[in-house]
Amino acid sequence: CIDIGKLPKATGCFTYDPGFTATASCKSAITYIDGEEGVLLYRGYPIEQLAEKSSFLEVASLLINGELPTKSEFASFEHEVTHHTMMHEAFKSFLGGFRHDAHPMAMLVGMLGSMASFYHNDLDLEDPEQRRLAAVRLIAKVPTIAAACYRHSIGWPLRYPRNNLDYTTRFLHMLYEVPSEPLELNPVAAKAMDLLFILHADHEQNASTSTVRLVGSTGANPYVCVASGVAALWGPAHGGANEAVLKMLNQIGRPENVQSAIDKAKDKESGFRLMGFGHRVYKNYDPRAALVRKMTHEVLGQLGVNDPLLDVAMKLEEAALKDDYFVQRKLYPNVDFYSGIIYKALGIPVEMFTVMFAIARTAGWVAHWLEQQDDPENKIGRPRQVYTGPANRDYVSMDQR
Ligand code: ACO
Repeated sequence: CIDIGKLPKATGCFTYDPGFTATASCKSAITYIDGEEGVLLYRGYPIEQLAEKSSFLEVASLLINGELPTKSEFASFEHEVTHHTMMHEAFKSFLGGFRHDAHPMAMLVGMLGSMASFYHNDLDLEDPEQRRLAAVRLIAKVPTIAAACYRHSIGWPLRYPRNNLDYTTRFLHMLYEVPSEPLELNPVAAKAMDLLFILHADHEQNASTSTVRLVGSTGANPYVCVASGVAALWGPAHGGANEAVLKMLNQIGRPENVQSAIDKAKDKESGFRLMGFGHRVYKNYDPRAALVRKMTHEVLGQLGVNDPLLDVAMKLEEAALKDDYFVQRKLYPNVDFYSGIIYKALGIPVEMFTVMFAIARTAGWVAHWLEQQDDPENKIGRPRQVYTGPANRDYVSMDQR
């Protein structure tokens, strides 16, 4: 309890925990992280096994339903998602209102928010079936909307979803412009993208998921809950890191410049951090980063891409992991350190990197939203604060100030 002069003391006690480093905001059965050991489980299944054996759509079904689907359950889930991939035609006029050079994340926030205007009146949040349908609609439509945002930004006509393709191939088909033809319907590209989607699908109470839950705790429409998650994801300390990593690697340019980047990151005055390094929870190698690192070599090899930025990234990792500053603070590469190199090899433009993350994380966001709506202990999120302003004082009229 804090005494602030003439003000009455706040009643009761509460914790002061900026950044929520030690405060659990909910109970959840979706994702488990052991940050000391570098373990990540979705519904109990190790991320390494899901990455090797599963698909993104199966993982999405696992996250929202709690169990791996049987063959017929998966077929019906896939059919339902596929059925909902189209956008309402009116979205096109909405999209047309954005400046051609708007960042695709800005467009995505707006477009997803606008979904609430299409699916609000017929959505009864008390009905579990309608809640589930909202989750399916989001998983189905986010890739279509994301690809449309990109095509708007480059002035290309929209491509409608080809529903005879699988989830990830369909997305790439909508996204790619004609010069990327060799990558279109390329199984290596689709597999790599699908794996990145699996690795980004959920990560318990990160900033964007906590935002979705906070907005969801008020009973808001699920589409605006997810739009708020996209907004939180955009920042460079969170999902925007993948875009920032590629810009940083481009600036470093050559392996010879790595040491000066490391020195700059250690200098607090510089305001520069190694992007794609460090994590609030992982104090060990991020297991997702290990998988992305391995995949980067495989994908570049299979696509015949020789990207000098991979040498810069590997040299940077090697130098950081030997440096006392990073060792003592347990700063390791996170999931986004290598992901940008893969996106680049797949012909994805850098401003779309965080959008890729958002497509995948939609599965986690809706799983958390569904879990929260079912939770009898769900209360409106309402943190307290430690007041540091002036004590109680009398109003002074303007001519007396
Ligand atoms: N480069 C240099 N120093 C760093 C870095 C970094 N990338 N990350 C943390 N540090 C230092 C901090 O300066 C601090 O040093 P100090 O103890 O001397 O003051 C110490 O390590 C702890 O850092 P915090 O900022 O307190 O750690 P926090 O848990 O709050 O932040 C975060 C985690 C935001 C991920 C941070 O490591 C960071 O900014 N990383 C770069 C951005 C990034 O890659 N974000 C993606 C995260 S993963 C994701 O969202 C998918």
